[in-house]
Amino acid sequence: MKRNPIIVALDVSEPSKALDLATELASVVGAVKIGSELFTSGGPEIVRRIRATGASVFLDLKFHDIPNTVAKSVAAAVQLDVQMLTIHTCGGGEMMRAAEESAQKTAATLGRRPPLVLGVTVLTSMDASNLQEIGLVQDVGTQVERLARLAVQSGLRGLVCSPHEVSILRKHVPDDFALVTPGIRPSGPAGDDQKRTMTPKEAMAAGSTWLVIGRPIYAASTPKTAAAQIVQSLS
Ligand code: C5P
Repeated sequence: MKRNPIIVALDVSEPSKALDLATELASVVGAVKIGSELFTSGGPEIVRRIRATGASVFLDLKFHDIPNTVAKSVAAAVQLDVQMLTIHTCGGGEMMRAAEESAQKTAATLGRRPPLVLGVTVLTSMDASNLQEIGLVQDVGTQVERLARLAVQSGLRGLVCSPHEVSILRKHVPDDFALVTPGIRPSGPAGDDQKRTMTPKEAMAAGSTWLVIGRPIYAASTPKTAAAQIVQSLS
């Protein structure tokens, strides 16, 4: 069977609602994403309960701190048995190496597969003037490529990026490197805050490994049907 590349973002504040969604969707999607809003309200317990539905979990807390602290946070995430997690690449090479090493070592100690530690480059909410504001003079694309190369050198095995960045990033990363893309809309552009979208099929054709999809699934009248239709659209 082909791997299911759909990750549903559970961007709801109520842990009970997130658990209901995970229970409904576990059998039709590849993974579910727990972000900082849900984690802050539901804590590690919501991660354990969602894992218990059988769903793979992407813990999207975008760690960015000194290497020692990030390594310990990654170890705690591995203890929670998550399958993917995020760190900020602008934390630097030493921080990224510490994160990847901690994922490998903690997983080996527990006899688990290490989670995919994904680097976040430049947030898609930032443009050139936002970068300049924090002292970065490069344009967004140059900065994304620079951080992607550093992520590869630092041993990461995946990145989160816009589907529009995938083709250029593929030139800088190994063949088996994971590129995880949000900004996906099943029927073309939607009237929300995602500005540059691709359909699931377009994003896979561009070279995405995983697709992060939130509102088109969790806000649908029947999330399971919406997810199944998206999976169907890929074949
Ligand atoms: O509802 P929607 O499909 O837009 O959700 C996309 C998910 O991906 C959200 O959880 C959002 O925070 C996340 N994300 C994003 N753009 C990025 C990074 C993460 O939309 N650049």
